[in-house]
Amino acid sequence: MNDAVLSTTLPRPFDARRAVNLAVTSWFVIAALGHALFLFYILAVFYPPIAQSGLSGLQSLEHLPAGFREGDTLGNLAAVAHVLLAAIVIGGGPLQLIPAVRKHAPTFHRWLGRSYLMAAVIGSVGGLYMIWTRHSLGNLWSQVTISIDGVLILVFAFQALRNVLAGRIVAHRRWAMRLFMAASAVWFLRVALMGWATLTGGWGIDWETFTGPFVYALGVGQYLVPLAMLEWYFICKRREAGPLVQAAFVSTMVLLTVFMAIGIFAATMGMWLPRI
Ligand code: HEM
Repeated sequence: MNDAVLSTTLPRPFDARRAVNLAVTSWFVIAALGHALFLFYILAVFYPPIAQSGLSGLQSLEHLPAGFREGDTLGNLAAVAHVLLAAIVIGGGPLQLIPAVRKHAPTFHRWLGRSYLMAAVIGSVGGLYMIWTRHSLGNLWSQVTISIDGVLILVFAFQALRNVLAGRIVAHRRWAMRLFMAASAVWFLRVALMGWATLTGGWGIDWETFTGPFVYALGVGQYLVPLAMLEWYFICKRREAGPLVQAAFVSTMVLLTVFMAIGIFAATMGMWLPRI
């Protein structure tokens, strides 16, 4: 019996490497869909009032307590830039990670990359300004944890740019993926919050003050969990990675992807659609 016949008749062993790729691709497709829904919300909720009334356009948005302050032009500019540029970060991030786009439309990838970096950096600096000059939801813990995210975005953006300018494409891709995780932390937060509320009825969340054990965990979890999973993925891609490490990664990814899908549905139905 030759090898070809053998390979079709014998049961195949678990191909951990393929399973890792499949788990990550499924996660990415669902995450990209969730980003598209958040992008739709951003375009529908923030762009029309700002186009109509300029800086004071945010005044009418009740769910944005740190959105507008009478007389604080700098802060209002930061807030308007923040929500407008969020469209580039949320819409552009997934597109930058699609290999076919990078391969077949390199000029588009380069221009979107520059716009994404600029939007993420300005959005973070503006966010840091807003979080420390205006009272928003949550407490000091929320201010500190989201500020750490702001600093991570700046560091990762710098590293992604530095490496691509030096022609180190493998390192550039890694830093760009870290940047995506940190810049999308605000999206992970909303999805995890709503997913958790759906599954547990809101255990550990005080909706009035936006405090509570789960909210505190989410403060750091919004970027630490995605970043940790990304580093684990990098380990799984190494040639010497063992099948056990890969199988554990796949199982964790499956659970997180199911949780994320529930969260996307809950955030769309309970948070984004009702405000449009
Ligand atoms: C670069 C990635 C980021 C994106 C895409 C983003 C996106 C957004 C969006 C869409 C909103 C409107 C809220 C909503 O309707 O759900 C918002 C609000 C806000 N963001 Fe960000 N954000 C980012 C990073 C940050 C960072 C790093 C900080 C702070 C250090 C921050 C601070 C704020 C604040 C203070 C508000 C106003 C919340 C309020 O009115 O209570 N953001 N952001």
